[in-house]
Amino acid sequence: MRIRLRTPRFGALIVLQGGISEDDHDDLNGMPTPLVVDEPVEGVISSSGDADAFVLTGWAGQMMNFEVDVDTRDPSAVLNVTLSEAEMTLKSKPIGWATKAIHAGEEALPQTGALIPPIYQNSTFRFATAEACVAAFTNEDAGYVYTRWGNPTQSVLENKIAALEGGEAALATASGMAAVSTALLTLLASGDHVVAMDSLYSASYNILSEDLRRMGVEATFVDATDVNQVERAIRPNTKAIYIESPANPTLKLVDIAACAEIAKNHGITSLIDNTFASPCGQQPIALGIDVVLHSMTKYLSGNGTVVAGVIVGSQAFIDRAKKGTLRNFGGVISPFNAWLTLHGVATLPLRFERHCANARVISEFLESHPAIQWVRYPGLPSHPQHELAKRQMRAFGGMIAFELKGGRAAGERLVNRIQICALAVSLGDVRTLICHPASTTHSEVSPEARRRAGITEGLVRISVGLEDAEDIIADLDQALT
Ligand SMILES: Cc1ncc(COP(=O)(O)O)c(C=O)c1O
Repeated sequence: MRIRLRTPRFGALIVLQGGISEDDHDDLNGMPTPLVVDEPVEGVISSSGDADAFVLTGWAGQMMNFEVDVDTRDPSAVLNVTLSEAEMTLKSKPIGWATKAIHAGEEALPQTGALIPPIYQNSTFRFATAEACVAAFTNEDAGYVYTRWGNPTQSVLENKIAALEGGEAALATASGMAAVSTALLTLLASGDHVVAMDSLYSASYNILSEDLRRMGVEATFVDATDVNQVERAIRPNTKAIYIESPANPTLKLVDIAACAEIAKNHGITSLIDNTFASPCGQQPIALGIDVVLHSMTKYLSGNGTVVAGVIVGSQAFIDRAKKGTLRNFGGVISPFNAWLTLHGVATLPLRFERHCANARVISEFLESHPAIQWVRYPGLPSHPQHELAKRQMRAFGGMIAFELKGGRAAGERLVNRIQICALAVSLGDVRTLICHPASTTHSEVSPEARRRAGITEGLVRISVGLEDAEDIIADLDQALT
């Protein structure tokens, strides 16, 4: 018999994995899987048995199961399956990380049959009629206008990241800092106040301590590892709580759910930079956070080829950020960078497992090395917040910080001697990267602010890559000895 499948969702991706009854799973012949459906598609179900029901499993933004009764013995029968929006939603069940990272978001693409989302490397879009043009200007769903306003390649990426973070919507940006600045500029106005963690990526710290201050926004920096300090710093004009966990480069953690609750109790917005954990390491929205930020330059793109960022949050917040701040200030991602990032995201779950496995054994090696004073890795029982890490993280990530007994001089010696590991800033790359934050990533932060945040002169940060762990260990060992 033949089956025809129709969905109301343009370009919906249906992965068919149906079988025919329990003892006769001889399935769906002639049905390409995955299958992009916007026209009825046809395939042949072959069955020699006398089963009369089968289950199809489909995926269209999310997994759905649907059951249909049919006489599979009649070779001439044609079954028309039309899925309504309601059915696609009602019959859905959660799908796994790897499936999401590969398939999510791709229904936003115009139907061409291209398996890999193409790059729409164009700045503007043409309209067939004046009416279509007016419609696109007034209603986003009516089509694309201009790439600073949106582009199909960006949309695929945004939908994919929103699915991975469990947020309603996402907005891709030109860099991680464009994500941080766009989110803060969307939220804040002169006279507002922010409570921020004292251990932050340097440019985020500088935006809050200098750039926004010039515009009349004040920030109070607190040791957010103690959530009571966050609560105590809130004032009547506080509009946001801004944290990083794990923090760059100290690997300090914040009790994310507790911070989110404080924000909710005070009617203010909670923001977290989730770059170090990635969506695979931690799900801040599920813990109550309002806005999640990433430098997609790091784990999400993963290959060291892109500078990009993303904001994830409610549809209302993303609409404000997109139609106001990003459109006006212009920190938009290029279609090519969005496309490269898509390729990275597809392998994130797989890469992240390896980053975590490598980091675990390398952190243990470092902890046992006589040249090292202490090691900070959330997965080590010696991390002061290991219990919190176990509670709120799904995986501990690939970032390690450690202090050398010989201070800054020993750090310089180490980075001059490494051979496989690269002396480089950035993180989340397939290659192992080592840097000395006090002289590089955090050199623009004042020595006093560094001291308060715990960024000591001898602190070294490693972003553990995907090489063989024993090779990285051998490299570190020869460089430390
Ligand atoms: C935690 C964190 N947030 C934000 C950024 C800024 O990202 P980008 O360099 O993509 O602007 C970085 C960069 O290193 C970072 O480590």
